[in-house]
Amino acid sequence: MRIAIGSDHAAVRGKDRLRDGLRALGHQVEDLGTDGEGPVDYPVYAERVGRAVAEGRAELGIALCGTGIGASIAANKVRGVRAALCHDPHTAEMSRRHNDANVLCMGGRLHDPEALEAIARVWLATPFEGGRHQRRLDLIRHLEEGDSAQA
Ligand code: RB5
Repeated sequence: MRIAIGSDHAAVRGKDRLRDGLRALGHQVEDLGTDGEGPVDYPVYAERVGRAVAEGRAELGIALCGTGIGASIAANKVRGVRAALCHDPHTAEMSRRHNDANVLCMGGRLHDPEALEAIARVWLATPFEGGRHQRRLDLIRHLEEGDSAQA
């Protein structure tokens, strides 16, 4: 799978380990930075990941920051992105099954590298269920377009 990955300084070590782990599993992972531990701004890297997915350069994206909160807020501002902040394999699985999340956000200061990879592996392996959940995603798209989600 083609995956875009990015993080700020707070999650760069976890991001690098995750990138290498996913490559070892056979994924094509594009690392969009950051590249060191010098302080940077998470919206820049979340935007890069979100745009890579929204523009079709990656099938899925992974954006990290210290808590994952800022990365998820920022990535969700990119039209077409459904970023989900996940803390464990269960939330990761549900974000794919029910929400068709296309960007996974995680907190690099909250989880060790093994846990980050465990969450990501479940997320990448889980399909969207479709059905009634597609209708709800259509309503989210209405919101994104400035319309109401209400009938
Ligand atoms: C950076 O110190 C930190 O604020 C950032 O990584 C993230 O946790 C924000 O949501």
